[in-house]
Amino acid sequence: MNVLFVASECAPFVKTGGLADVIGAVPKALAPLGVSVKIMMPAYPAVAKMLSQGTVLQKISDLHGGEARLVEVQAEGLDLLLLDAPHLFDRPGNIYLGPDGNDWSDNHLRFGALSLIASRVAIEGVGGWKPDLVHAHDWQAGLIPAYLHQTKKQTPPCILTIHNVAFQGLFDAGVGSVLGLSDALFTPEGTEYHGRLGFLKAGIAFSDMITTVSPTYARELLLPEYGMGLQGLLQARKANLTGILNGIDLDVWNPANDPALVESYTAATLSKKAANRAEIEKRFALSPNPDAPLFCVISRLTTQKGLDLLIETLPGLVGRGGRLAVLGSGEKWIEASFIGAAHQFRGSVGVIIGYDEALSHLLQGGSDAILVPSRFEPCGLTQLYGLRYGTIPVVARTGGLADTIIDANAAALEAECATGIQFAPVTAAALDSAIDRTCDLFKQPDVWDKIVRRAMSHPVGWDRSASAYLDLYKHVESMPEK
Ligand code: ADP
Ligand code: GLC
Repeated sequence: MNVLFVASECAPFVKTGGLADVIGAVPKALAPLGVSVKIMMPAYPAVAKMLSQGTVLQKISDLHGGEARLVEVQAEGLDLLLLDAPHLFDRPGNIYLGPDGNDWSDNHLRFGALSLIASRVAIEGVGGWKPDLVHAHDWQAGLIPAYLHQTKKQTPPCILTIHNVAFQGLFDAGVGSVLGLSDALFTPEGTEYHGRLGFLKAGIAFSDMITTVSPTYARELLLPEYGMGLQGLLQARKANLTGILNGIDLDVWNPANDPALVESYTAATLSKKAANRAEIEKRFALSPNPDAPLFCVISRLTTQKGLDLLIETLPGLVGRGGRLAVLGSGEKWIEASFIGAAHQFRGSVGVIIGYDEALSHLLQGGSDAILVPSRFEPCGLTQLYGLRYGTIPVVARTGGLADTIIDANAAALEAECATGIQFAPVTAAALDSAIDRTCDLFKQPDVWDKIVRRAMSHPVGWDRSASAYLDLYKHVESMPEK
């Protein structure tokens, strides 16, 4: 089966978050199941250097004001279809934001172009290859189902995966005609979101199936607290909505063989974590304390991630002897609060503002626990990396965090199934008591050790979810044409 993935990022080439990890990992898990995936993504500067090694499959004379090409490149075990459109994508810095920190003003053209060309490839194929179905990811690929819907030609089915409903791709109503969308689609049941045009909404309205990245988030999306205004449409499409849990790439995230660690380790050589812990203490200027856990955070610093709650609980964390290493960037006020905390709690709180892939691996390798206090979390990957690295996840009970971590309450400890700590509601008080429970468990080395070993053997790979995607692909292929 041939599947066209369409996404705005893909690890290890271009990454701002978990979407990239998923796009880079799923095709490799699907290959042994007989699914051949090509990933269409923009040729940003970070990937443009690969263009010269690729094969030009198509030239496009005018794509929203400039020339473009589709170039096929094989790299890192992935088959990429790069949309080379320098006037849209050859820009330095963050792939979504301009130098002023705001969204590029032509993002509708940039990702509208990605969707348009993907829909053409879906209908006509390219270089002798034709997809049996299209798998579009997030708002950047959300217009594909709309383009497929409005054509009179025969089209393959299209699945949309929502990785985060908070990012909807909303633009002025007028962009519809610029992007060649029929006016007839601009209705509350179609692309219209309160008078604006919504890329994600278009995807939800016109795709054959909608998936999201955990079963709990699939249920949460139907509620006003989580649906961000799309809960009505999602309710209407409920029969076609399903949650498939993310996994992780076990080759990239493997404590037994991770070049970013000072010392690799397995469940049988856990004491080697200490060398990684010492390196973190050095890099984050933290004082050693063997009696309390070293917590870490690896995250976008946003209100979604609940890290403002963590700032409120720092006196409690530090008061119990805990230490915290934070790696992240995002909202300026959260960055500033953590920098302030590092001054206030010198030696106990260390912060590095920025994005550093290797350091994120080291933090997983050397910390005792990872904090993920998200207000909502479609799936979350850092808690899965934590499980694999024996770095105990302390998570809010929401979305994929609820689905992946088994709380170490008294009954679960007795049943020997606990893999982490969950808390609810998502408040500073509940987070504080979760940190307290973590410190308590840490003081019982036998109990802690068992949780760590169990976490490390918890299945977090893609096997099960890759089969679920295959089943879904077969189901969608067998659906009657709309
Ligand atoms: P989201 O996609 O919502 O940001 P996920 O947990 O799904 O959250 O994925 C985040 C990904 O980005 C993980 O791979 C995590 O390790 C990585 N990440 C987040 N912030 C940083 C950072 N500052 N430096 C390095 N990696 C980071
Ligand atoms: C989004 C979500 C995150 C999820 C990731 C990959 O960025 O915020 O929860 O893990 O996509 O699906």
